[in-house]
Amino acid sequence: MTVTAGPAVETLVLPKATTRRYVMCAPKYFTVEYSINPWMDPGTPVDVDLAMTQWEALKRTYERLGHRVEVVEPQPGLPDMVFAANSATVLGGRVLGARFRAPQRAAEAEHFRRWFTTRGYRNLVMPSRINEAEGDFAWTGAVLLAGSGFRTDPEAHAEAQEVLGVPVVSLRLVDPRYYHLDTSLFVLTCDERAQIAYYPQAFSAGSRRVLERMFPDAVIADAADAACLGLNGVSDGRHVVLPMEATGLAAQLVDRGYEPILLDISELRKSGGGPKCCTLELHA
Ligand code: ARG
Repeated sequence: MTVTAGPAVETLVLPKATTRRYVMCAPKYFTVEYSINPWMDPGTPVDVDLAMTQWEALKRTYERLGHRVEVVEPQPGLPDMVFAANSATVLGGRVLGARFRAPQRAAEAEHFRRWFTTRGYRNLVMPSRINEAEGDFAWTGAVLLAGSGFRTDPEAHAEAQEVLGVPVVSLRLVDPRYYHLDTSLFVLTCDERAQIAYYPQAFSAGSRRVLERMFPDAVIADAADAACLGLNGVSDGRHVVLPMEATGLAAQLVDRGYEPILLDISELRKSGGGPKCCTLELHA
Protein backbone atom coordinates (compact mmCIF):
# COMPACT_ATOMS: atom_id res chain seq x y z
CA MET A 1 0.00 0.00 0.00
CA THR A 2 1.28 3.43 -0.79
CA VAL A 3 0.75 6.31 1.51
CA THR A 4 0.37 9.59 -0.26
CA ALA A 5 0.91 12.89 1.41
CA GLY A 6 -1.99 15.30 1.60
CA PRO A 7 -2.07 18.40 -0.56
CA ALA A 8 0.83 20.70 0.04
CA VAL A 9 -0.13 23.54 2.31
CA GLU A 10 0.48 26.72 0.36
CA THR A 11 2.01 29.28 2.63
CA LEU A 12 2.28 32.66 1.02
CA VAL A 13 5.62 33.99 2.15
CA LEU A 14 5.36 37.75 2.02
CA PRO A 15 8.30 39.55 0.42
CA LYS A 16 10.39 41.24 3.12
CA ALA A 17 11.58 44.83 3.13
CA THR A 18 15.15 45.66 4.07
CA THR A 19 16.38 49.11 5.03
CA ARG A 20 18.14 50.89 2.18
CA ARG A 21 20.54 53.78 1.76
CA TYR A 22 19.90 56.13 -1.12
CA VAL A 23 21.56 59.20 -2.60
CA MET A 24 19.45 61.83 -4.32
CA CYS A 25 19.93 65.28 -5.87
CA ALA A 26 17.12 67.87 -5.92
CA PRO A 27 15.91 69.08 -9.36
CA LYS A 28 16.66 72.68 -8.43
CA TYR A 29 18.08 73.44 -11.88
CA PHE A 30 15.94 70.96 -13.82
CA THR A 31 15.14 71.85 -17.44
CA VAL A 32 14.82 70.09 -20.77
CA GLU A 33 17.09 72.27 -22.86
CA TYR A 34 18.82 69.60 -24.93
CA SER A 35 17.65 66.25 -26.24
CA ILE A 36 19.71 63.11 -25.65
CA ASN A 37 16.85 60.59 -25.55
CA PRO A 38 13.48 60.36 -27.35
CA TRP A 39 11.54 61.58 -24.29
CA MET A 40 13.27 64.96 -24.26
CA ASP A 41 11.71 67.76 -26.27
CA PRO A 42 13.32 71.13 -25.55
CA GLY A 43 10.11 72.75 -26.87
CA THR A 44 8.01 71.38 -23.99
CA PRO A 45 7.85 73.73 -21.02
CA VAL A 46 9.05 72.32 -17.71
CA ASP A 47 7.72 73.36 -14.32
CA VAL A 48 10.68 73.31 -11.89
CA ASP A 49 8.46 73.82 -8.84
CA LEU A 50 6.37 70.83 -9.82
CA ALA A 51 9.49 68.75 -10.44
CA MET A 52 10.67 69.72 -6.94
CA THR A 53 7.33 68.79 -5.39
CA GLN A 54 7.35 65.39 -7.11
CA TRP A 55 10.97 64.76 -6.14
CA GLU A 56 10.30 65.72 -2.51
CA ALA A 57 7.35 63.32 -2.40
CA LEU A 58 9.67 60.57 -3.63
CA LYS A 59 12.25 61.38 -0.97
CA ARG A 60 9.61 61.54 1.77
CA THR A 61 8.25 58.18 0.65
CA TYR A 62 11.66 56.56 1.16
CA GLU A 63 12.03 58.20 4.56
CA ARG A 64 8.56 57.09 5.64
CA LEU A 65 9.55 53.53 4.71
CA GLY A 66 12.55 53.84 7.04
CA HIS A 67 15.23 54.27 4.40
CA ARG A 68 18.11 56.69 4.74
CA VAL A 69 18.41 59.36 2.08
CA GLU A 70 21.52 61.47 1.62
CA VAL A 71 21.59 64.38 -0.78
CA VAL A 72 24.13 65.82 -3.17
CA GLU A 73 24.10 69.57 -3.81
CA PRO A 74 22.59 70.34 -7.27
CA GLN A 75 24.67 72.47 -9.63
CA PRO A 76 23.47 75.22 -11.96
CA GLY A 77 23.89 74.32 -15.63
CA LEU A 78 23.49 70.57 -14.97
CA PRO A 79 19.74 70.04 -15.46
CA ASP A 80 20.00 66.22 -15.50
CA MET A 81 21.89 66.00 -12.21
CA VAL A 82 18.61 65.04 -10.52
CA PHE A 83 19.12 61.60 -12.11
CA ALA A 84 21.59 60.54 -9.44
CA ALA A 85 21.45 56.86 -10.44
CA ASN A 86 23.66 57.69 -13.40
CA SER A 87 26.54 58.91 -11.31
CA ALA A 88 27.94 55.88 -9.47
CA THR A 89 27.63 52.16 -8.87
CA VAL A 90 28.30 51.38 -5.22
CA LEU A 91 28.72 47.85 -3.92
CA GLY A 92 30.22 46.75 -0.63
CA GLY A 93 31.92 50.09 -0.06
CA ARG A 94 33.48 50.16 -3.52
CA VAL A 95 32.52 53.02 -5.79
CA LEU A 96 32.72 52.93 -9.55
CA GLY A 97 32.07 56.45 -10.79
CA ALA A 98 30.52 57.56 -14.06
CA ARG A 99 31.61 58.69 -17.48
CA PHE A 100 28.74 60.17 -19.48
CA ARG A 101 28.15 59.75 -23.19
CA ALA A 102 26.61 63.20 -23.67
CA PRO A 103 28.97 66.17 -23.21
CA GLN A 104 26.09 68.07 -21.59
CA ARG A 105 26.18 65.67 -18.64
CA ALA A 106 29.93 65.08 -18.40
CA ALA A 107 30.55 67.42 -15.45
CA GLU A 108 28.07 65.60 -13.20
CA ALA A 109 30.54 62.74 -12.70
CA GLU A 110 33.10 64.93 -10.95
CA HIS A 111 30.53 66.45 -8.52
CA PHE A 112 29.55 62.98 -7.42
CA ARG A 113 33.17 61.79 -7.25
CA ARG A 114 33.90 64.65 -4.86
CA TRP A 115 30.84 63.85 -2.79
CA PHE A 116 31.99 60.24 -2.30
CA THR A 117 35.52 61.37 -1.52
CA THR A 118 34.39 63.80 1.17
CA ARG A 119 32.15 61.07 2.59
CA GLY A 120 35.28 59.01 3.17
CA TYR A 121 34.95 56.43 0.41
CA ARG A 122 38.49 55.21 -0.26
CA ASN A 123 37.82 52.54 -2.84
CA LEU A 124 36.79 54.82 -5.66
CA VAL A 125 37.60 54.30 -9.32
CA MET A 126 36.60 56.57 -12.18
CA PRO A 127 35.84 54.51 -15.31
CA SER A 128 37.87 54.73 -18.48
CA ARG A 129 34.87 53.72 -20.63
CA ILE A 130 31.47 55.35 -21.03
CA ASN A 131 29.59 54.23 -17.95
CA GLU A 132 26.21 55.63 -16.88
CA ALA A 133 26.26 53.70 -13.63
CA GLU A 134 22.99 52.45 -12.18
CA GLY A 135 21.22 53.69 -15.27
CA ASP A 136 22.74 50.62 -16.93
CA PHE A 137 23.79 48.48 -13.95
CA ALA A 138 21.40 46.57 -11.68
CA TRP A 139 22.68 44.56 -8.71
CA THR A 140 20.59 41.47 -8.05
CA GLY A 141 22.44 40.32 -4.95
CA ALA A 142 24.29 37.70 -6.99
CA VAL A 143 25.22 39.30 -10.30
CA LEU A 144 25.41 42.74 -11.80
CA LEU A 145 23.06 42.99 -14.78
CA ALA A 146 24.58 45.41 -17.28
CA GLY A 147 22.93 47.16 -20.20
CA SER A 148 24.46 48.56 -23.36
CA GLY A 149 23.22 49.63 -26.75
CA PHE A 150 22.61 53.34 -26.23
CA ARG A 151 24.73 54.67 -23.37
CA THR A 152 27.12 52.48 -21.40
CA ASP A 153 29.95 51.01 -23.45
CA PRO A 154 29.99 47.16 -23.45
CA GLU A 155 33.64 47.35 -22.41
CA ALA A 156 32.52 49.18 -19.29
CA HIS A 157 30.86 45.94 -18.24
CA ALA A 158 34.23 44.18 -18.02
CA GLU A 159 35.63 47.21 -16.22
CA ALA A 160 32.79 47.04 -13.67
CA GLN A 161 33.45 43.35 -13.07
CA GLU A 162 37.12 44.05 -12.44
CA VAL A 163 36.58 47.06 -10.17
CA LEU A 164 33.62 45.74 -8.18
CA GLY A 165 34.67 42.08 -8.15
CA VAL A 166 31.23 40.69 -8.96
CA PRO A 167 30.05 38.67 -11.97
CA VAL A 168 28.59 40.84 -14.69
CA VAL A 169 25.94 39.70 -17.15
CA SER A 170 25.77 41.84 -20.29
CA LEU A 171 22.40 42.60 -21.86
CA ARG A 172 21.73 44.47 -25.08
CA LEU A 173 19.02 47.13 -25.34
CA VAL A 174 17.39 47.65 -28.74
CA ASP A 175 14.61 50.24 -28.32
CA PRO A 176 15.77 53.89 -28.16
CA ARG A 177 12.87 54.80 -25.85
CA TYR A 178 14.40 52.39 -23.33
CA TYR A 179 17.93 53.69 -23.61
CA HIS A 180 19.07 52.73 -20.10
CA LEU A 181 18.68 49.30 -18.49
CA ASP A 182 16.70 50.91 -15.66
CA THR A 183 13.99 51.99 -18.09
CA SER A 184 13.17 48.37 -18.91
CA LEU A 185 14.18 46.25 -15.90
CA PHE A 186 14.40 46.51 -12.14
CA VAL A 187 15.20 44.24 -9.22
CA LEU A 188 12.33 43.43 -6.84
CA THR A 189 14.19 41.33 -4.29
CA CYS A 190 17.92 41.56 -4.00
CA ASP A 191 19.39 38.23 -2.87
CA GLU A 192 20.81 34.97 -4.22
CA ARG A 193 17.41 34.10 -5.71
CA ALA A 194 16.59 37.57 -6.94
CA GLN A 195 13.25 38.44 -8.41
CA ILE A 196 13.07 41.00 -11.22
CA ALA A 197 10.50 42.74 -13.42
CA TYR A 198 11.25 43.59 -17.05
CA TYR A 199 9.89 44.49 -20.46
CA PRO A 200 11.19 41.81 -22.88
CA GLN A 201 10.73 43.85 -26.07
CA ALA A 202 13.39 46.32 -24.94
CA PHE A 203 16.06 43.60 -25.25
CA SER A 204 17.79 41.80 -28.12
CA ALA A 205 16.63 38.21 -28.79
CA GLY A 206 19.72 36.74 -27.17
CA SER A 207 19.45 38.93 -24.09
CA ARG A 208 15.80 37.94 -23.72
CA ARG A 209 16.83 34.30 -23.67
CA VAL A 210 19.42 35.06 -21.01
CA LEU A 211 16.78 36.75 -18.85
CA GLU A 212 14.31 33.87 -19.34
CA ARG A 213 16.98 31.41 -18.31
CA MET A 214 18.14 33.36 -15.27
CA PHE A 215 14.73 34.58 -14.08
CA PRO A 216 12.03 32.11 -15.12
CA ASP A 217 9.61 33.59 -12.56
CA ALA A 218 10.17 37.23 -13.47
CA VAL A 219 7.31 39.69 -13.61
CA ILE A 220 6.80 40.42 -17.30
CA ALA A 221 5.67 43.96 -18.01
CA ASP A 222 3.65 44.98 -21.07
CA ALA A 223 4.00 47.87 -23.50
CA ALA A 224 1.73 50.17 -21.44
CA ASP A 225 3.78 49.57 -18.28
CA ALA A 226 6.95 50.37 -20.19
CA ALA A 227 5.57 53.46 -21.94
CA CYS A 228 5.04 55.33 -18.64
CA LEU A 229 8.54 54.29 -17.53
CA GLY A 230 6.91 51.83 -15.14
CA LEU A 231 10.04 49.68 -15.18
CA ASN A 232 11.92 52.54 -13.55
CA GLY A 233 10.79 51.20 -10.17
CA VAL A 234 12.50 51.12 -6.81
CA SER A 235 11.89 48.15 -4.53
CA ASP A 236 13.03 47.59 -0.95
CA GLY A 237 12.05 43.95 -1.21
CA ARG A 238 8.42 44.59 -0.39
CA HIS A 239 7.39 48.18 -1.14
CA VAL A 240 7.74 49.07 -4.79
CA VAL A 241 7.75 52.73 -5.82
CA LEU A 242 6.36 53.16 -9.34
CA PRO A 243 5.08 55.95 -11.60
CA MET A 244 1.34 56.18 -10.94
CA GLU A 245 0.39 55.19 -14.51
CA ALA A 246 1.96 51.73 -14.12
CA THR A 247 -1.31 50.18 -12.93
CA GLY A 248 -0.98 46.87 -14.81
CA LEU A 249 2.46 46.25 -13.35
CA ALA A 250 1.21 47.29 -9.90
CA ALA A 251 -1.62 44.72 -10.11
CA GLN A 252 0.84 41.95 -10.97
CA LEU A 253 3.01 42.95 -8.02
CA VAL A 254 0.06 42.88 -5.63
CA ASP A 255 -0.67 39.31 -6.77
CA ARG A 256 2.83 38.38 -5.67
CA GLY A 257 2.55 39.97 -2.27
CA TYR A 258 4.36 43.25 -2.98
CA GLU A 259 3.03 46.65 -1.98
CA PRO A 260 3.18 49.10 -4.88
CA ILE A 261 3.38 52.79 -4.02
CA LEU A 262 2.27 54.89 -6.98
CA LEU A 263 3.74 58.36 -7.34
CA ASP A 264 3.30 61.20 -9.83
CA ILE A 265 6.66 61.68 -11.50
CA SER A 266 5.31 63.21 -14.72
CA GLU A 267 7.54 66.30 -14.72
CA LEU A 268 10.76 64.27 -14.55
CA ARG A 269 9.48 61.92 -17.23
CA LYS A 270 9.76 64.85 -19.68
CA SER A 271 13.48 64.18 -19.45
CA GLY A 272 13.09 60.41 -19.72
CA GLY A 273 13.34 59.78 -15.99
CA GLY A 274 11.37 58.14 -13.21
CA PRO A 275 11.76 57.11 -9.56
CA LYS A 276 14.80 54.89 -10.09
CA CYS A 277 16.70 57.45 -12.18
CA CYS A 278 16.45 59.84 -9.21
CA THR A 279 17.77 57.23 -6.78
CA LEU A 280 21.32 55.98 -6.44
CA GLU A 281 21.47 53.02 -4.06
CA LEU A 282 24.42 52.41 -1.76
CA HIS A 283 24.48 48.61 -1.73
CA ALA A 284 26.04 47.08 1.35
N1 ARG B 1 17.74 63.11 -19.44
C1 ARG B 1 18.55 62.09 -18.82
C2 ARG B 1 19.43 61.42 -19.87
O1 ARG B 1 19.00 61.25 -20.98
C3 ARG B 1 17.68 61.08 -18.15
C4 ARG B 1 18.45 60.06 -17.41
C5 ARG B 1 17.57 59.08 -16.72
N2 ARG B 1 18.30 58.28 -15.86
C6 ARG B 1 18.21 56.95 -15.81
N3 ARG B 1 18.83 56.33 -14.85
N4 ARG B 1 17.56 56.27 -16.71
O2 ARG B 1 20.54 61.06 -19.63
